[in-house]
Amino acid sequence: EKSGYDHYMLKEIHEQPRALRQTISGRIDADDGTVDVDVDLPSEYVDSIEEIQIVACGTSNYAGRYAAELLESVVDVRTTVEVASEYEFDGGRDPWRTLVVAVTQSGETADTLSAIRRAKRAGARTLAVTNTLGSTIVRETDDSVFIRAGPEIGVAATKTFASQVATLTLLAVRIGRARGSLSYARARELLESVRRLPNAVQGVLDREDRIREVAREYADSDAFFFVGRRFGHPVALEGALKLKEISYDHAEGFPAGELKHGPLALVTDETPVLALLTDGSRPDETLNNVKEVQARGAPVIGATTADGDGEVAADPTHLDVDLPVPAAGVLEPLVANVYWQLFAYHVADEKGRPIDRPRNLAKSVTVE
Ligand code: F6R
Repeated sequence: EKSGYDHYMLKEIHEQPRALRQTISGRIDADDGTVDVDVDLPSEYVDSIEEIQIVACGTSNYAGRYAAELLESVVDVRTTVEVASEYEFDGGRDPWRTLVVAVTQSGETADTLSAIRRAKRAGARTLAVTNTLGSTIVRETDDSVFIRAGPEIGVAATKTFASQVATLTLLAVRIGRARGSLSYARARELLESVRRLPNAVQGVLDREDRIREVAREYADSDAFFFVGRRFGHPVALEGALKLKEISYDHAEGFPAGELKHGPLALVTDETPVLALLTDGSRPDETLNNVKEVQARGAPVIGATTADGDGEVAADPTHLDVDLPVPAAGVLEPLVANVYWQLFAYHVADEKGRPIDRPRNLAKSVTVE
């Protein structure tokens, strides 16, 4: 069942190109700049939306943050994202004009279901983005969109994160085009990034040997810090979550600019910093933060944009380890995330952790 892999997690990491192809299959018309995600959102309704509120937990919450950044900065629709267990609906005068989007792989997460129930009771329109046909969230929301990643068995979410972000990008394009806030040219550019995802992710998977070496070299560090800006920020949070879940090491994710406001006190030559330096993560500004941690002796593992010749765009001379990321525009941090998944996996494997069933965790969290 694990098709020759030692763990489901590794199998699922490697399934990402295929999962992403399924996610986007038949949904994009790149020439037209349009998408069809089989959702019944009438254009009069889409026009009337005043705010989108995304609710989700854990990894799905980070996928939601990625989407919120797209919706706000690229598509120009006011969007908030909240941890489902903290969510209170405040819908203003006409709650129906708030679209509440639940992102949940399983469709059974109790915190997310209860957030959606609160939103519904208050009169909001609800939409589920999920991997699971027939799940509770599908029955309880007004509409649903499927991420089509295929079943995920490892407790740590991997391929579903990639497919969630890809699906939410398609949904963002759909909403932005319907409202006229996303230009035809920008829509085509975003769809081109989505179209590139499967091959770009394959490009990272092809470098697994290198990231395994890096993981072994740094496995015994005191702590690990993940940094990124803009689309790199949710990926930094996700990288740290994955590592702590399966390796039990101390890991934290920060917006790169926040390091100097506190966390820098923890940085030593025993705390590697994993930095996102790709397109979509403001690499030039983040390089300044890289210099700050290097001045404290921290080794820096950077994911940087590779150009067509495999050359690195950001200045790699500063980095202890330089991991090239194939071009995918604002989705490059999502591609780089595959390095962080492999890093977490190989650190945990080096330590002999029970990767598919980490202690204290369940695949689907059905208590609040
Ligand atoms: C982390 C992980 C969890 C889930 C969270 C939400 O690897 O898997 O953080 O993302 O429990 O689960 P779903 O998406 O099923 O609502």
